[in-house]
Order: sequence, then C-alpha cells, then structure tokens
Amino acid sequence: MEVIVQATPDDVARVAADVVAGVVARRPDAVLGVATGSSPVGVYAELARRVADGRLDLSGVTAFALDEYVGLPPGHPQAYAAVVARDVTGPLRLDPARVHVPDGGAADLEAAAEDYERALADAGGVDVQLLGIGGNGHIGFNEPTSSFGSRTRIKTLTARTRADNARFFASPDEVPLHCLTQGLGTILGARRLLLVAQGEAKAEAVAAAVEGPLTSMCPGSALQLHPRATVVVDEAAAVRL
Ligand code: GLP
Repeated sequence: MEVIVQATPDDVARVAADVVAGVVARRPDAVLGVATGSSPVGVYAELARRVADGRLDLSGVTAFALDEYVGLPPGHPQAYAAVVARDVTGPLRLDPARVHVPDGGAADLEAAAEDYERALADAGGVDVQLLGIGGNGHIGFNEPTSSFGSRTRIKTLTARTRADNARFFASPDEVPLHCLTQGLGTILGARRLLLVAQGEAKAEAVAAAVEGPLTSMCPGSALQLHPRATVVVDEAAAVRL
C-alpha cells in the first residue's frame, strides 16, 4: 500500500486528482468509482477546476457510485443519486447516461443489487475507485463485520453511521436504516484504490486500516489485500500512523 501524507486537505485533493487524471490520460473511457460523503468533495472540486479550464476531459468516463440509501423518497436531496448528480456528474461534466448509482428505491432490492454487479462487470470493472473512510473504518457502507468477499447487497446502517450522517438530514430519525452498498469483494475488484481522509477524527480509522490487523471489524483494512492501493491523507488524519 502506498501512503501519501500531505500538509493540508487542499494538497490531498490535488494529489488524488492527479491520480484520477493520470488514469484518464491513459484511458479516456476509464471507469471511475465514485464515493459520496465529505472526504472526496475537494477532489471533485479540483477535478472540476481542471475540466472547466480545459486541462481535463472526463466526457468519455463511466462512473459507478459505491452505495445508496434505501427508502428515501424519490428526488430526496440526500439520496446519493442526487448527491452524485450535484457534486460529480454536473461539475465534472460527465455524461449522465454513463453514471450509475444503486437503485435504493427498487421494489426488489436483491435484484437491484444483482443488476448493479452485472452493470459493473459489463462495463469491464472499475479502473480507479475513490474511497472515503467512516470513523468506524467503513468503506462504502460496509460496516464493521462485513465480509471481505461480499458483493453489492442490502446492509443495515450502524447507529454510529446514522449519527455521523445525521448532519445531512433535518432530524436524526430521517436517516435511513438500510442501504445498498458495493461489497468489500466488489471494491477489491477495482484495478486501483484511492482512499482520501482528512482531519483528526479519521486518524484512528486510517491507522487501523493501514497498520492494524486485517479484520472485518475495520472494513478499511481490506485495502491491505489490494495490490494497488493508495491512501492520501493530511497531517491531521496521519497523527496515529
Ligand atoms: C459515508 C459514505 C462513505 C463515506 C463515509 C465517510 O456514509 N457511505 O462512502 O466514505 O461514510 O463519510 P465522510 O467522508 O463524510 O466522512
């Protein structure tokens, strides 16, 4: 695993954007795995700047989101489909027809999970998967105890994750109980992993993922199994390394 410590969150965003831009330079029709949450927001902003000033063209890219809440009303602004459209598809000028998010509103969620795995496989797999990490070590919505071999499936969100994400909702009760998420096995299938983390609140999870034992209690430790994983953190997120 390659661990890159940068001085500030802006530096983290620049280094991670360089990795994504490098992949797309080699393959303009690359498949990009996108994460939601606050961690990659700076990376998207940096990529959007490069697109806006003509240094980067992402119009040929296909994108797959990691996860989606189950049961939010259609069009809810915190549904990851809406978040990805707002933070990623629009600013990065992706082709909306090539942006995929699991269908958390499907009547048959198991079928939706299988469809998502099939769509990923049909696209040829992910070239570079951007990841954040939860305070409890989750990646995507793979909460502690998630199997390293898991595929896209329904998961129950832990109380901690619901509390962490309550800031995006009008009230904590509004945070969904369930989600669809790519499994750890799905994520490990990407050809390159790129995890970003900023701030001291993530320091423990980063240390557990990078230096701790390989354990389902820290889903981020699955990165240790990947031959090409890069972790880019600022100094605050690196204090426990
Ligand atoms: C969220 C997302 C993850 C994200 C993580 C950390 O709930 N499902 O994909 O990486 O939790 O979120 P943040 O970056 O806001 O700290």
